[in-house]
Amino acid sequence: SWTTGNVIEEQVAAIREQVGDRRAICGLSGGVDSAVAAALVQKAIGSQLTCVYVDHGLMRKGETEQVEKDFVAATGVQLKVVDAEERFLKALAGVSDPEEKRKIIGREFIRVFEQAQAEIIADQGPAVEFLVQGTLYPDVVESGGGTGTANIKSHHNVGGLPEDLEFKLIEPLRKLFKDEVRMVGQELGLPEEIVQRQPFPGPGLGIRIVGEVTKERLDLLREADAIAREELTAAGLDRDIWQCPVVLLADVRSVGVQGDGRTYGHPIVLRPVSSEDAMTADWSRLPYEVLARISTRITNEVKDVNRVVLDVTSKPPGTIEWE
Ligand code: XMP
Repeated sequence: SWTTGNVIEEQVAAIREQVGDRRAICGLSGGVDSAVAAALVQKAIGSQLTCVYVDHGLMRKGETEQVEKDFVAATGVQLKVVDAEERFLKALAGVSDPEEKRKIIGREFIRVFEQAQAEIIADQGPAVEFLVQGTLYPDVVESGGGTGTANIKSHHNVGGLPEDLEFKLIEPLRKLFKDEVRMVGQELGLPEEIVQRQPFPGPGLGIRIVGEVTKERLDLLREADAIAREELTAAGLDRDIWQCPVVLLADVRSVGVQGDGRTYGHPIVLRPVSSEDAMTADWSRLPYEVLARISTRITNEVKDVNRVVLDVTSKPPGTIEWE
């Protein structure tokens, strides 16, 4: 019968067999899937695994530290962190169009990740043959099977490497659904904040600022988002909502009054939704008291924000994210 213990044992044996004395690389996103996949592979092959975490500067408050400290402490994994904030901010400067932002973030991410891979290979040699991916059963079904290899174009500025690196894939979660992945993660001793994490888009806060992405705006949004998350957690609502994007309307200003003066600040949008699979969603009917606390705290504590608004649109017609 299915138990998380069986799954772990079976996968650990299979991964050891597959990898032998060679080496593997795994990209960590901060999300549940890559974390559990990495933890499983780490359990199987220990220091033959190297994880890579690209810090694009678009994460929420505390998330990078969660990966750098808590995940490493829980797994003992060997981690290479690439601080690429400046590079991403530079690439995003002057860009407001949502699709263009997504393209830039995706492109820079691949470049930074491949560079890190190339450095690991230069360091560890050609025994690095495997790439770990947190593919789940629904992803396998959706893409009609999967191929088992990934082609990575390496960069020219790292000497002695082939132009095209072919990795064999390790996908230890291929037979699992999301709730099973969470159970496996829990059994492996991963922190609750990682195992129970709600979905968060790859492009991060970059697509939650309507307007140009700047460091200042990111910091402001991080504060507002942290307050909303704190209050939702304190109210015990994490399991009731699918996710709650917090969005900064950086190109909009409205008049307000605070203390003894007129303000002209930005609105923050709360977008709490309930959903089964993110394909459709409904706006969450959050208790007024919780909304009131979030609103009061954000307008009091976050500089340049003088209004909090609630998104009451279902999907369709609205998407969950604003960009
Ligand atoms: P939308 O906005 O399309 O979002 O209703 C559906 C779900 O997907 C998440 N999302 C992303 N996840 N990379 C991701 O890994 C992305 O580029 C991306 N865009 C949206 C979104 O947070 C929601 O859960």
